[in-house]
Amino acid sequence: MKIRQRVCEVSEIPLKEMRCVSLPDRNVVVANTEHGFFVADEMCTHEDARLCDGNLTGTLIKCPLHGSRFDLTTGRVLDDPAEEDLVVYTADVVDGTVFIELDQNQ
Ligand code: FES
Repeated sequence: MKIRQRVCEVSEIPLKEMRCVSLPDRNVVVANTEHGFFVADEMCTHEDARLCDGNLTGTLIKCPLHGSRFDLTTGRVLDDPAEEDLVVYTADVVDGTVFIELDQNQ
């Protein structure tokens, strides 16, 4: 079963910017791109770096520590040294609020 989790308000994140947000059971990065809002796990899959401290170009997020880029539309890692894809969530916006969908056991 899917659960809908509120993440933040649209007004909290200017276009082409991103923020880390703490949810009750996980920390995520939220990006406001020209292609919509994207939500992914906050930490890089390589080492301990918060991706919201990196750079956002279009829908690509670049890790601040060693520069691996991830595609927020799929979570796919594009560069070394990270090898694991990023967990991304299905995000949608309703009445100015960003939500993600979680599986009950996710
Ligand atoms: S910690 Fe992100 S690429 Fe190394």
